[in-house]
Amino acid sequence: MGKAGFGVAAGCAAVTCAIAAVMVAQRVAARARWRRAVALLREFEEGCATPPARLRQVVDAMVVEMHAGLASDGGSKLKMLLTLVDALPNGDEEGVCYAIDLGGMDFRVLRVEIDVGSTAVINQRVETHAIPEELMGTSQDLFNFVALTLKNFVEREDGKDAQKPLGFTFSFPVRQNSVSSGSLIRWTKGFSVGDTVGKDVSQCLDEALARCGSNMRVTALVNDTVGTLALGHYYYKDTVAAVIIGAGTNACYIERIDAIIKSQGLPTNSGGMVVNMEWGNFWSSHLPRTPYDISLDDETQNRNDQGFEKMISGIYLGEIARLVLQRMAQESDIFGDGAESLSTPFILSTPYLAAICEDDSQDLSEVRRILQEHLKIPNAPLKTRRLVVKICDIVTHRAARLAAAGIVGILKKLGRDGSASAASSSGRMREQPKETVVAIEGSLYQEYPVFKEYLDEALVEILGEEVARTVTLRVMVDGPGTGAALMAAVHSSNRQQQGGGGGGTI
Ligand code: BGC
Repeated sequence: MGKAGFGVAAGCAAVTCAIAAVMVAQRVAARARWRRAVALLREFEEGCATPPARLRQVVDAMVVEMHAGLASDGGSKLKMLLTLVDALPNGDEEGVCYAIDLGGMDFRVLRVEIDVGSTAVINQRVETHAIPEELMGTSQDLFNFVALTLKNFVEREDGKDAQKPLGFTFSFPVRQNSVSSGSLIRWTKGFSVGDTVGKDVSQCLDEALARCGSNMRVTALVNDTVGTLALGHYYYKDTVAAVIIGAGTNACYIERIDAIIKSQGLPTNSGGMVVNMEWGNFWSSHLPRTPYDISLDDETQNRNDQGFEKMISGIYLGEIARLVLQRMAQESDIFGDGAESLSTPFILSTPYLAAICEDDSQDLSEVRRILQEHLKIPNAPLKTRRLVVKICDIVTHRAARLAAAGIVGILKKLGRDGSASAASSSGRMREQPKETVVAIEGSLYQEYPVFKEYLDEALVEILGEEVARTVTLRVMVDGPGTGAALMAAVHSSNRQQQGGGGGGTI
């Protein structure tokens, strides 16, 4: 080889070495980035852990807060609102009732026909309407729209002059003045209409109905949990509580009046009253809170409130996952260049999170589609898609298990978690745990099988198999609205009988 040839060869070798060095360096960097992503995942998983011992601490904290909220207003973050409902439908109701179910950007109008004694709603018509964004400015605009929609619906169903009992499901915290009226304490779930806080929402609706020439007026104002409890009780007499796990989350249950210290001896016909816990606002240091929960809270208009809801309900789950993915994208670059969309708050809604978790294809093709089409992240390799699934799963797992702990909290408060019979098992007679039904409604439990599976599994873990067998969660489809119509029937018959023990028992 001549001098020149030797020089060329040496040059080539140097270039090859340099390329190889760059490639090695890139690979090392990529591996380090991947390790960072995995470390973030592990950290998140640990932060969200809900082993049975921790769930039991949450159960106990829930019971303590329930007592505090029942003792005085402001005694706890759990509002434990008195619904003034001391009678639930029992099958004596009959006739045609209507309901409006308002709890978010969609609302429903319902016509419910009930036959006495059959404990079966014999006919039901439901319409869903979206609230146009521009009507969210003032309460008058909002209620005018809702009232007009109801008026048109009633006219189509029963004619112009129809005057039927009307249940109004309003799924926000309300201080009840009576069974048919109450004022909004504050908005939740990101919903907000300027001037409504502090107003009597039944009066707002009644005035709007009068303005549009309708004869209908609110007979019963209920929270969606109370509507669901009413429908549950109508079908199953052992129903003691109701839980909503949808866009928001909450629970109500039947409490003995003497246990409600703050009721100061309010008279009831049945000795019991339904308490709307507003458990979305529950807080305890035992809740597994991560830095992502804190970031989520900072983004919301109700900062420092609804902490339990922000870990459990549909509006927030996708957003928690997005915050984790965003941090991974920033610190590990595993999504390549195309991950800008991850900085858009609420872009990953919970239905997408559910679809990601439930993708059982071998190559996670649905995850790929969502990443590509919705989040504009093309070509995420399989191992990255697996990581995304894992994050969504962690978020779902924690949410479902915390909801289960909340349910057991109610059962424990009512002495139906088996601890009473366990305590007495040392004595001669072992008390049999009572059969308990909890009515449940909401898209997460109804439409997201993985969520349901995790929740059911956690109930067994906390309660033990024997006691868990005595507890049945019954899905009440359309519980909030149908139950409100039934409550209107209960209270219209109570009214006709001048307040005396007509329809309904607890
Ligand atoms: C509201 C509750 C409601 C729940 C479920 C929460 O944000 O505060 O009143 O029951 O959502 O809709």
